[in-house]
Amino acid sequence: MRKQIAAANWKMNLSVSEAEILLDQLLASEHNLSANQEAIFAVPAIYIPLATQKLAGKNNVYVAAQNCHPKANGAYTGEISAPMFASVGVKHIVLGHSERREYFNESDAFLAEKTNAVLAIGSTPIFCCGEPLEIREAGTQNSFVEAQLKNSLFHLTADQITKVVIAYEPIWAIGTGKTASSEQAQEIHAYIRSVFATKYGQAIADQISILYGGSVKAANAKEIFSQPDVDGGLVGGASLIASEFAAIINALK
Ligand code: 13P
Repeated sequence: MRKQIAAANWKMNLSVSEAEILLDQLLASEHNLSANQEAIFAVPAIYIPLATQKLAGKNNVYVAAQNCHPKANGAYTGEISAPMFASVGVKHIVLGHSERREYFNESDAFLAEKTNAVLAIGSTPIFCCGEPLEIREAGTQNSFVEAQLKNSLFHLTADQITKVVIAYEPIWAIGTGKTASSEQAQEIHAYIRSVFATKYGQAIADQISILYGGSVKAANAKEIFSQPDVDGGLVGGASLIASEFAAIINALK
């Protein structure tokens, strides 16, 4: 059974004291994770030790990084490598978020290198894909997303691809309050799974968790997560409010 995941992406938000308060509030809230469910917190890198310490001993709860550099070490001022994250206990790294693709010019080829780096140390890439508004309006979102996946992931072996979590995040739904309808989410998630099935076979594709991201909140999480090919969410704004994110965790199937 593939994993159902509620992943928080705090992005570049919160002071350290605000981060501490949010983690304490989350710890105080009720959430029940079953064996196939995970809650993942992609916090700013500087707060990883704090979050790891706060969440220690919680079953199926992980602290993630929001990005990494593809090289293990070297003269890359300001960057943090996948092995460095692993050394402080991080097991998941978000890659290819549309904000990084757009503001930092991250290419498919560069993301392929990062994916290799994360898999090489036995961590899980949470690989983001998703189309801008003009592509959705043109109706070519499937081929757009398919190209992102092919260009960055299709060199992986079947065994490696089962270790990747996909996050489909339509750019027009990020931070806009505009969510894809559950039908739109299901349609493209099923398409993404079919892309992997064609390349790796249905049994492999069925093991890959595909998260939806884009204005997920407590009020819509259950409806979106109930779709058969939606295996949870990657949540920005609502993950900064403890009661919202606790409800989103509880909306996992
Ligand atoms: P919002 O939930 O704020 O729309 O952000 C989604 C996102 O980008 C998560 O990575």
